[in-house]
Amino acid sequence: LWQLQRDPLTFLQQQAATHGDLSHFRIGPRHIYLVNHPELIKAVLTTEHAHFTKGAVLQRTKPLLGNGLLTSEGAYHLQQRRRLQPLFHRQQIALYADCMVKHAARLAPDASTACWQPGEVIDLHQAMMNLTLAIVGETLFAQDLTGQSTAIGQALTVLTGNFQRLLSPLSTLQSRLPTRENQRVEESLTLLEQVVIELIEADLQTEEAGNLVTMLLEAFADEALTPDERLTKIRDEVLTVLLAGHETTANTLTFTWWVLAQHPAVMERFYAEIDRVCQGRLPTVEDLSQLTYTRMVLCEVLRLYPPVWAMGRQAVTPIKLGGYTIPAGATVILSQWVMHRDERYYADPTRFEPERWATADSTKRQSYSFFPFGGGVRLCIGEQFAWMEGILLLATIGQRWRLEATPESTLALQPGITLRPKYPLRMQLQLR
Ligand code: HEM
Repeated sequence: LWQLQRDPLTFLQQQAATHGDLSHFRIGPRHIYLVNHPELIKAVLTTEHAHFTKGAVLQRTKPLLGNGLLTSEGAYHLQQRRRLQPLFHRQQIALYADCMVKHAARLAPDASTACWQPGEVIDLHQAMMNLTLAIVGETLFAQDLTGQSTAIGQALTVLTGNFQRLLSPLSTLQSRLPTRENQRVEESLTLLEQVVIELIEADLQTEEAGNLVTMLLEAFADEALTPDERLTKIRDEVLTVLLAGHETTANTLTFTWWVLAQHPAVMERFYAEIDRVCQGRLPTVEDLSQLTYTRMVLCEVLRLYPPVWAMGRQAVTPIKLGGYTIPAGATVILSQWVMHRDERYYADPTRFEPERWATADSTKRQSYSFFPFGGGVRLCIGEQFAWMEGILLLATIGQRWRLEATPESTLALQPGITLRPKYPLRMQLQLR
């Protein structure tokens, strides 16, 4: 427990390196199996998924995420997934492209709303969080969350920073103690719930159809629910999408700007591509297929710094896996961090090398050796949204700006619910 809490990334990596593709350890009475082979990961997520529910750690996030898409199970999950799916269809997502580009273009020095100035030093992660929150707010909720992004970001930091404790079997007990930390968690939760209630109220007053809240209000209208029950169900989905849909992409963009600044040759190739494809105009959804090197850069960032760095599942029945039987009740961990850095699938795995995603090389790899978005029935519903947002935001910002790391900034990682930078990454803005 101590090793896992202190440095889970190294602990899990060493566990796989020492004990192989399927290994076992215990935390108190709990049996935990680390699975580190593409075929076995695929089995847990696809062919054998019905033997598993989400893991204990995620279940402990229920005070925050309730019974939303990330935490719900079985028939209810499937029903909710079908209800929300239309918002994430390829054609629907294409309609979000202009909004994504608009928000990134607002940072340009000549934009009327310019909030970045040449020479200024910014907190990169905070800036990316503000941007992706504003985009989720406008695309999926038809609301302007720009003014609240700092408060929402701080509340999320408190709630997700609490993660290390979730690993402890005593966490439920600890969360009931009258400590300052628990009070801050409580306050953060209240703030987020207030945001959600405002989103719902704002939605009831608009005629605009087609956003997430409208769809859920319609979906639940025929069900025999009290107003409170309906509000709770909507709150759970809204908070889930708000959280899942902005921090993950913000972390990806943060890591991308950081590694680009450390790899000038890659950065120049990236600039050359966006200049050639966009020819000085803002990027559009039609440019996505041409921005192949930008996509390769993102792939490599998602490989080395996967925002979801591990996923847990709990076996509901005994299940045979890789020649062993996982007992009912045991936890199975699938770790993107460990698999993506496995030298059997990636030569010189810690090297940042977007070229390894050139088609000929990457098709040789086994499919679940790269699974930043999970897989099977629980595959990330926002995967296409995230690819489009990542590429368009990089291309829009990269057209105007060069982000340089300040000498005192270093990248230390904090593996919480998501993998994020531990300390603020201060970057200096230069015009290109
Ligand atoms: C780089 C960005 C992203 C990454 C790396 C990522 C990763 C993941 C992963 C690994 C899962 C599966 C978790 C599991 O099986 O336990 C997941 C689920 C989910 N993601 Fe994402 N995600 C990203 C962006 C987004 C976006 C943009 C949205 C919404 C706008 C979103 C919404 C969700 C939701 C609602 C689920 C639960 C799906 C379900 O269980 O049916 N994600 N994500």
